Amino acid sequence: MTELSVSILSADLANLAAETADSMVCGADMVHFDVMDGHFVPNITYGAPVLKCLKKAVPEAFYDVHLMISDPARYAQDFATAGANLINFHIEAVPNHVGQTIAAVRETGCLVGLTISPSTPPQAVFPYLDELDLVLVMGVEPGFGGQKFIPTTVSRVAAIKAECNRRGVSPRIEVDGGINEGTLETVMKAGANIFVAGSWVFGGDIAENVRHIQKEIEEISDRIE
Ligand code: DX5
Ligand code: ZN
Repeated sequence: MTELSVSILSADLANLAAETADSMVCGADMVHFDVMDGHFVPNITYGAPVLKCLKKAVPEAFYDVHLMISDPARYAQDFATAGANLINFHIEAVPNHVGQTIAAVRETGCLVGLTISPSTPPQAVFPYLDELDLVLVMGVEPGFGGQKFIPTTVSRVAAIKAECNRRGVSPRIEVDGGINEGTLETVMKAGANIFVAGSWVFGGDIAENVRHIQKEIEEISDRIE
């Protein structure tokens, strides 16, 4: 199944609940919640207290939390308690503690996603594929919405997909950053099945954009089956 996760980083944050609810009603599958600490990435966004309020306002949504922070294990429980369903953390943040961090996230009861930035070889996630619910492949450098897709992302997704097939495991493969009309099909063909879209959704009419993207996903799925 192919799903759309809307990145609220590009929403009007003064109307966060209303815009999130709009995207859900119109067919988005998940809410992508980007947490940045100004240390792991050069930008600061929002944390668990904001997620807690959003969860209260839009309880029916599935919350796909993307931690771009230096110490994910320390904060995983806070995000789980606030309403996260899935917690993604970066391998680059904890290069020597990947296994422990997977265990710490697992302990919270959330699904576990391991994320790689564009300069990390896809092989870095291979040792953990059996333990993960999801691999998140960045299509841009983490830190900001609205950036241009890095084309090598496609072969990185394909390499992870091929290794999953070889091992007979099937974590979801999510792609985040630079997803739009011109890039969606290539990453779908490479084997990704969850797509994050921020500026594509929130730039303009949210309802219209979500419906359009879901239609694109459906048409591409039919074509590549
Ligand atoms: C970047 C974030 C992305 C970003 C996606 O660090 O992780 O989720 O908001 O935005 P678009 O879809 O505009 O590239
Ligand atoms: Zn993200």
